[in-house]
Amino acid sequence: MAGSVTEADILAIGQSLLQSARQSKPALYRGVSGQILERCLNDAPLRAALFRFIDVLPQLKGSAAQAGHLAAYIEESGSSGLLPGLMKLAARPSLSWLATLQVKHMAQNFLVEESPHAMAAMLKALAAVPANITLDAVGEAVLTDAEADAYRDRVLWQLAQDWQGQVPHLSIKLTALAPAFDPLDAAGTKKRVYSRLLPIIEAACVRNATLTVDMEHHELKDQIVALFFDMVADFKDMRWQPAIALQAYLPETGDDIRRALNSAQRNGRKIGVRLVKGAYWDQEQAWSQERGWPMPCFRDKAATDAHYEKLAAELLARSDVLLPAIAGHNPRSLAVAIAHARHHGLRTGQWEVQMLYGMAEPLRNALAQQKVPLRIYVPAGDLLAGMAYLIRRLLENTASTSILRQTWLDASSDDALLKAPEVPTPKAPEQSPPATLPLSDFSRSDIRNDFAKALAAASGALHSNDRTDDPALHLSRNPHQPSWVLGRTRMTPLSKINVVIESARKAQQEWHKKGTAVRVRHLLALADQIEAERHHFAALQVLEAGKPWREADADVAEAIDFLHYYSTQMLYLAGAHTTTNFPGEHNHYRYRPRGVAVVIAPWNFPLAILTGMTAAALVTGNAALMKPALPGLLSAQALRAAMDKVDIPTALCPLLVGGVELGQALVAHPQVDVIAFTGSRAVGLDILRAAHTPYAEQAHLKQVVCEMGGKNAIIVDADADLDEAVLGILASAFGYSGQKCSACSRVIAVESIAEKLQERLIAAAQTLRWGNPADPSFDHGPLINEAAQKKALDYIAIGQTEARLLWQGSVPDSGCYSPPTIFTDVKPEHRIAREEVFGPVLALMTAPDFASAITMANDSDYALTGGVYSRLPQHLELAQREYRVGNLYLNRRITGARVGVQPFGGIALSGTGIQVGGPDYLKQFMWMQSVSQNVMRKGFVPDV
Ligand code: FDA
Repeated sequence: MAGSVTEADILAIGQSLLQSARQSKPALYRGVSGQILERCLNDAPLRAALFRFIDVLPQLKGSAAQAGHLAAYIEESGSSGLLPGLMKLAARPSLSWLATLQVKHMAQNFLVEESPHAMAAMLKALAAVPANITLDAVGEAVLTDAEADAYRDRVLWQLAQDWQGQVPHLSIKLTALAPAFDPLDAAGTKKRVYSRLLPIIEAACVRNATLTVDMEHHELKDQIVALFFDMVADFKDMRWQPAIALQAYLPETGDDIRRALNSAQRNGRKIGVRLVKGAYWDQEQAWSQERGWPMPCFRDKAATDAHYEKLAAELLARSDVLLPAIAGHNPRSLAVAIAHARHHGLRTGQWEVQMLYGMAEPLRNALAQQKVPLRIYVPAGDLLAGMAYLIRRLLENTASTSILRQTWLDASSDDALLKAPEVPTPKAPEQSPPATLPLSDFSRSDIRNDFAKALAAASGALHSNDRTDDPALHLSRNPHQPSWVLGRTRMTPLSKINVVIESARKAQQEWHKKGTAVRVRHLLALADQIEAERHHFAALQVLEAGKPWREADADVAEAIDFLHYYSTQMLYLAGAHTTTNFPGEHNHYRYRPRGVAVVIAPWNFPLAILTGMTAAALVTGNAALMKPALPGLLSAQALRAAMDKVDIPTALCPLLVGGVELGQALVAHPQVDVIAFTGSRAVGLDILRAAHTPYAEQAHLKQVVCEMGGKNAIIVDADADLDEAVLGILASAFGYSGQKCSACSRVIAVESIAEKLQERLIAAAQTLRWGNPADPSFDHGPLINEAAQKKALDYIAIGQTEARLLWQGSVPDSGCYSPPTIFTDVKPEHRIAREEVFGPVLALMTAPDFASAITMANDSDYALTGGVYSRLPQHLELAQREYRVGNLYLNRRITGARVGVQPFGGIALSGTGIQVGGPDYLKQFMWMQSVSQNVMRKGFVPDV
């Protein structure tokens, strides 16, 4: 083989492709849909309105709902002119069928219905190009086993069809084969995927078929790649052809190609590699910003293009062991691939170009004319259910960076289209620093390993062999295995309280004198200290609080966030703040600490809430007496140990160990100025009563900062996206086994959707696994102790007398478990609809319409968190006006508030309405002094 591929070769191929491709437009850009799309290109709000309508359409029952949504979206877009006018016209019940028809028509461009007839017609049409196909069973997200079974059956159906002489070639999504696809449970995921994959591979072998594994989001990439190479090795002697899609927008893809080479050589068989640029760029960008994780993709399109060209060259040079498929619609990128394939003398069967059905047909025809081997990726399925796919394609066709738009709509010159990608010198990432500490990315094996090591170390260290049976000792136990005593701690005798408070008061005076900057430095040092040991802190919660890995990690991150957030807030609040100065009169105010705070913290966020309340007390210049709930003691001890390392004096912030009696004694103590409490409503109300009853020797009013429980509801509207609603409800209801004040314990579904929601909810709940939280293959763990277990079981018994048991999951026989339970036909007056359970018990209710659902949701003593799943703008607005909760979540789960991003706290009997992690919180730990100074002296008014 002489010479190498030159730029001139590439340009020559590209020009000849473009010359014939530009003779006609792709079908999508023609006719009515073409006009709609062209108009949408220059009107981003109208484009968004159209996509929102397409997104919700499958869920809408009847013409009134269709018309209502279309009208609302166009109205919100604010667009005017001929097309929006026509669309508004179509937004009438009598005409909405037109809009639906048009969307179906668009869908037909990209999707084929799953019938022998439609498949035969499509195969015939593509054979005329000529082009082979790869078939994909397109559909909704797979949340349940039944849905995964259905996906498997569709793939089997496709394999069994008449392929009109072609060797069957399928593209499959591994995530669609198992509902719980989780990097934290790689072994379990593999087992679940394999159980449905095996019949597919067997059927593929019958026909020598190719199975290409599609690539999905980056978070799952390593797991998908690992599973694929397992498949190659595990089924290596079977007669199927394995292939995988790899994405050029990821800088690491070269490594995965090398793994494919090694795997092919090791297993003695060819492996297909489909090179794509990557379909999830926008989502990866949004998620990485939201999670504070590094953006996994190149940020510059030219970088992706250049990488794609490089990888295409690498793949085509290794057709001895690989079967390269170069996928895309970019004339330049494809010209590069063709030049390399020709350079290596590759023939049909040794490589191919792959394109998506309904995209860039003129280019496809031009390639066929040049005898380039072609395969078309054909998604098959229900036209309406395939909407997510349709939207992705429409976005691709209309994005300003899209090559399709540039080639056929923007009239970019051939030179511009064929120019070699110029990669700008990499600049510092534009990503702004995350608002909160990023959660651990457990899709990374290094992080999983570090966490496992920390957990093993903590498990090894936490064994109390002390057999003393002294009632003055508190025994910390593991709720999964209560006989395991993790530690024994001596309780603080009540007789010590006076001395402790006295020394705290002295220490507070010193602490206050240090000034804000020094106090902030201490808190930030504490944040760094916890961050350095974050896995250790989280491991303690896995063992003592029964939290699964992700939840334990999130609690530690939140503790660190509180330290940062309150430090920053205090810097704003410190010093003198001028109100209004007049000539001759100066006015300002400043905040002063109240004195000694008692922090009574719960066990369910054993580090975050304790740290948050303590940080607030300390940074504002108070002393803080920490009295954590006993089941969270190990975390509190670790916090105190971290404080020692950063010189936060014990006298200023002692850890007091005790139960109710200690709490009551502290609350009642006349030398206490602030009580910061988070916990149950009963204790909260007792504290408020006791604190507001001054004792004879008490010459001040106590300030109570009080966060109590919730009976939170999620409303599911008739047009809700059920994929999202089901996931959001399960995460909110069963996260940390329901032991969160923010947890969802009521679901109020609008009647027309209730049955469908129930079905999917149960089926999805069945996929969740309950067991030892130290083992990451379990999603959920036990309740905190036997008392909590008994309370939850009692409520389940009450529920059985009041309502209908719809579903109950299974849990281990031993340990403090209560089975996840869903009741239906629950009425507003039922106890399980009114009382806080603090366990995995969910009450399903129905409402005739959305407005009644809000009324039902508001019918509670509590008003903490609330959620709404709806896609109708008017309903989302109504919720914001009428749904009376401290934290309202629209189209997302109702737990997991982030410090400073979603300040957290309720009203009614949930709390005071001043939110934790919000701008007003710290003020509760201080009092305000206003100073007004007359500076006028006998008619002389100084300048300053
Ligand atoms: P074009 O040249 O216009 O490139 C668009 C692409 O550039 C975007 O999709 C994105 O990857 C990248 N990009 C856009 N803006 C960027 C920026 N600012 N910085 C960096 N990169 C940027 N995808 C996938 O993820 N998994 C899969 O399994 C498949 N399977 C598949 C099969 C077949 C047959 C085809 C044709 C395509 C896929 N895809 C895919 C989709 C593919 O990844 C890609 O989205 C489209 O093919 C668009 O790329 P083109 O080369 O066609 O267009």
